[in-house]
Amino acid sequence: MRSIAGRQRLSTARDVLAVFTGLATASSRRIGVFCECRYKSTGSAFPGKVKLGDKTYQKDSWFNVPDSIATSIDRQLHTTNDHPISITRSIVESKFPAPAFKHYHDFFPVVSTHENFDSLGFPADHPGRSKTDTYYVNETTVLRTHTSAHELEIFQAKESDGYTISADVYRRDAIDKTHYPIFHQMEGARLWDREKVAHGDIAKAVWEDVERLPKHHMIVEDPNPPTHPERNPLQAGHAPEEAAAIATHLKRSLELMVVEIFSRAKAAAMATNPNYHDEPLKVRWVEAYFPWTSPSWELEIYWQDQWLEVLGSGVVQQELLQKAGVPSKLGWAFGLGLERIAMLLFEIPDIRLFWSQDPRFLSQFTGVSDDLDTLKRFIPFSKYPACYKDVAFWLPPASSSTTSAAGGLAPPQAFHENDIMEIVRNIGGDNVEDVQLTDEFTHPVSGRRSLCYRINYRSLERTLTNEEANRFHERVRGELVKKMAVELR
Ligand code: PHE
Repeated sequence: MRSIAGRQRLSTARDVLAVFTGLATASSRRIGVFCECRYKSTGSAFPGKVKLGDKTYQKDSWFNVPDSIATSIDRQLHTTNDHPISITRSIVESKFPAPAFKHYHDFFPVVSTHENFDSLGFPADHPGRSKTDTYYVNETTVLRTHTSAHELEIFQAKESDGYTISADVYRRDAIDKTHYPIFHQMEGARLWDREKVAHGDIAKAVWEDVERLPKHHMIVEDPNPPTHPERNPLQAGHAPEEAAAIATHLKRSLELMVVEIFSRAKAAAMATNPNYHDEPLKVRWVEAYFPWTSPSWELEIYWQDQWLEVLGSGVVQQELLQKAGVPSKLGWAFGLGLERIAMLLFEIPDIRLFWSQDPRFLSQFTGVSDDLDTLKRFIPFSKYPACYKDVAFWLPPASSSTTSAAGGLAPPQAFHENDIMEIVRNIGGDNVEDVQLTDEFTHPVSGRRSLCYRINYRSLERTLTNEEANRFHERVRGELVKKMAVELR
């Protein structure tokens, strides 16, 4: 998963299936001006204000939100009737019913760095805070990178024992079929109050709630102990049996959600193909790390011969609940990527499709929001030809020594692949299917680094002519020189 929160963030932009914690695209987006580049960044170049949705913000030298992102904020796919992202949200929500769970859909995506990072205990040097990974409006304001940005305020509001949030989230990232700089997450949490449960016995109260949950027959691998002193510690104020009960409730609740998704996926597949034969569903729990949960786990699903990570979760850190003014409560939280789940559910092959306004895409989901039982698999329409173009260049000497692929806060002049992705995306928009590094070389004498990227120009909606692709590509080459000071080869 593109887990901004945990150590997974340290993996490169290429952890392909990370998507499913998010990804998508808009065919009709305006191609924005490239607003900010670390290579040319000066505060004075970005004075003034920017309008995002219906709000206006002061920009500063941190500003790096391209027009293509800013103008997509209004799309709100997760609440668009009959859109696959919204349909997937409804299915997940159905497994977290009222009154225990309240469902929030309309938190605005511009949040403070305090909400997105500090309130959750992200260390000051966490790579997720880097400008190469996150869209900044100004030094203390970002486009949220995950729905966890709202945990503190919802815990503070005390409106229900549990909740889900669905929302658009934003991350600078690679360009490929499963990554898109805007995607959608769902967050969920469930708390129990020591002062409200009988005799203050949280473990007993949670176990009673576990007993009320349905059982399922899915195969679940869960080889790890409920807590582990080094890898997945019990929190200081929690009894082992409390953490174990909360973990059981968390895991069963999320397994039931997965069973629901896949039963619907199977029914949809059988509606299209009565001879459809599927493998028994298999999932596994893997120990994880998030700054605001402990112990923590990720859930992976075995799908088409590989393990796909679909969500992160854990027992909420008591410190966060103390900050929220509810120190007597304990519980769990999870976050999942709706695009990944929707891609599995509907068999949607390319994340850009979610942003398409093409009736050949959208019409396939008509009526499903009102009657989830009419859900069908997506039938792809014809694929248009790809047009590959390569660009090779020398990095400027100052950048050659450092490649920080999300592995740490890069020094100001360091090269970061996400900066290339952003240039390509701002020029080619959704006409770019993917961008791959195909060659890398360091000159033995000068020490300079040369890179070669292959850009695959392909529209989802029509055939791009070679001339059009050339025009995009020429602009990309020009911008690479202008913004990143590379020397083309
Ligand atoms: N916000 C985390 C992510 O984006 C997922 C998560 C949510 C993990 C809640 C734990 C609890 O990767």
